[in-house]
Formats: sequence, structure tokens, C-alpha cells
Amino acid sequence: MIVLITGGEGQLGKELARRLSTHHKVYSLGKLELDITSKEEVERVVTYLKPEIIIHNAAFTAVDQCETDIKKAILVNGMGTFHIALAVRNINAKLIYISTDYVFDGVSRVEYSEGQKPNPISTYGLSKWLGEQFTLDICNGTVIRTSWLYGHDGKNFVKTMISLANQKKEIRVVNDQIGCPTYVPDLAETIKQLIPKKNGIYHVTNSGFCSWYDFAKAILIQKELDEELIKPITTNDFGALAPRPHFSALGHNALIKEGIIPLRHWRDALKEFIRKENAC
Ligand SMILES: NC(=O)c1ccc[n+]([C@@H]2O[C@H](COP(=O)([O-])OP(=O)(O)OC[C@H]3O[C@@H](n4cnc5c(N)ncnc54)[C@H](OP(=O)(O)O)[C@@H]3O)[C@@H](O)[C@H]2O)c1
Repeated sequence: MIVLITGGEGQLGKELARRLSTHHKVYSLGKLELDITSKEEVERVVTYLKPEIIIHNAAFTAVDQCETDIKKAILVNGMGTFHIALAVRNINAKLIYISTDYVFDGVSRVEYSEGQKPNPISTYGLSKWLGEQFTLDICNGTVIRTSWLYGHDGKNFVKTMISLANQKKEIRVVNDQIGCPTYVPDLAETIKQLIPKKNGIYHVTNSGFCSWYDFAKAILIQKELDEELIKPITTNDFGALAPRPHFSALGHNALIKEGIIPLRHWRDALKEFIRKENAC
């Protein structure tokens, strides 16, 4: 199949391109080759390449910056997806849109189901929810929500914790936000399996959930660094600009219904990430 990946220079985009290239003809385009904020550019590129599948991964992902640049957040994550969905409809292709746990408000105490109504509390979450609605309403589209990504390309929380542990005497990490850390290669493999499945909303994260504080401790333990460096703080103490859900773990019923085995536990995935990074 011919697959087009948007946001091809991002951490998930790079992993998807590597993984899908073995079975499909893949065009993985960065922002310079396909800027999704231009309706004309999206139309021209999509019409020319005629992909059967578009994995729409491009996004303005700086959650705090979205609060100060609301226009850009809506333009990229909302309108950018609108442009993609229109182009997908014109060529009768299928759209797979990558979304986020931040569409939820975080007041739940059990994992969010795929059918639960989003209620975003940040501009980033709202703009991604707009993208979800364009995907589902305009074209032949599937939404894949994921969370707390880390992989081998680019910067991420795991690499930051390891780097800070080598420089600092204390690392303050938020203990009242709970979610699912997700290893990018595991996510990319499941996205690949979802390509032929029926349209809908799927949650794809590693299994289990934890706080950022628990996650940070697990990282240092795996890396054989001093876990006592990690000190718990509250979201209020940390003082980030964007509000974030206190609990955003995602349930995986839709995956199970389609016969896909949910991803391994986040601790097992973390172990593999550290082993592979150590081997580099
Ligand atoms: N990271 C997470 O923890 C997380 C959690 C849940 C969901 N997600 C979703 O998963 C997807 C992948 O995330 P990621 O962490 O791999 O993100 P990422 O590394 O930030 O990659 C996103 C890519 O999109 C590009 N982009 C931004 N504006 C664009 C535009 N106007 N046109 C075309 N490309 C544009 C970015 O380019 P520049 O960097 O040059 O701007 C970047 O290369 C995103 O849709 C994100 O919302 C991520």
C-alpha cells in the first residue's frame, strides 16, 4: 500500500517510517515538505502522491506553548487536520489521526474508555479534540489516542531524567498526574496492525499506569542510578502553564475487540528502551 506520514521528522513519525517501509511504499514528509497549515499545499501533495493511507502525526506538541500561542495550536492541530481530512475524502483514502490522552479532563479514577466524551482542560487538548472531530466527521477516519511518548529519536522524559541524574543533586517530579508511559516502537507496531482494521477510536498505550514521579524512579532504577534523587512535588508546586489531567490512563477495549493484544506493561517496555540505549 502507499502510505503518507505527516510530521515525518518527529519522534513517532521517524519510527513509523522505519517500521512501515518494510511492507509498504512510504512517503514520510517533514514540515518543510508538507506544511499542513496550507490547504493548497495539502491538496496538491495528497492529490499528487495518491496515498491509500495517511497517518496524520504532525502536530504542535509543546503543551505549555499552546497556551500562549492559541492561534497556532488551533491552526496546526485543528485546521491542519481539517485540511488533511478534506484531501483524504477527495481521493477516497483512509486517515489515521494520532491523538492524545489530554482530550480528557482527568477527573476519572478508572481508565478512560474510547467512547467517553472528551472534555479538554488545555488548549493543546482542545485543539487535538478538534482534529479528532474533523477526522471522524469528514472522511474515512480512525483516531488513535496515545500518551506520554518516549522513543529512541529526539528528546523525551526518560532521556531528560537520565541526563538530570548525572548533573543534579535533586530532581523534583510531579506525583499527582497519573498516566500511561508509552514506548514509541510498541505504539508504531500497533498502529501498523490497526491499518486494516475497522474505523473508530482506539487507545494505544503500554499497559498499567503510574505518576511521573513513579516513572522517574523506575527510570533511574533501570539505569542503576540513585533513585533517591527523585523528590515528589505537586502539579501546583511545579507550576506549568498548561493545566494537565490528574488521571489520564486509557483503557484498551477497542483494541481487544479487534483481536489485537494490548501492549506490554510500561515497566517491561522501559526495560527494553534502556537496554537498547545502553547498547548504542
Ligand atoms: N509526545 C507525547 O507524549 C504525545 C502524547 C500523546 C499524543 N501525542 C501525539 O502523537 C503525535 C506524535 O507526537 P511526537 O511526540 O512524535 O511529536 P513531535 O516529535 O513533536 O513530532 C511532531 C512533528 O510535527 C511537525 N509539525 C509541526 N507543525 C507542523 C506543520 N504545520 N506541518 C507539518 N508538520 C508539522 C513537527 O515539526 P517541528 O518540530 O519542526 O515543528 C514535528 O516534526 C502527535 O500528533 C501528538 O499530538 C504525543
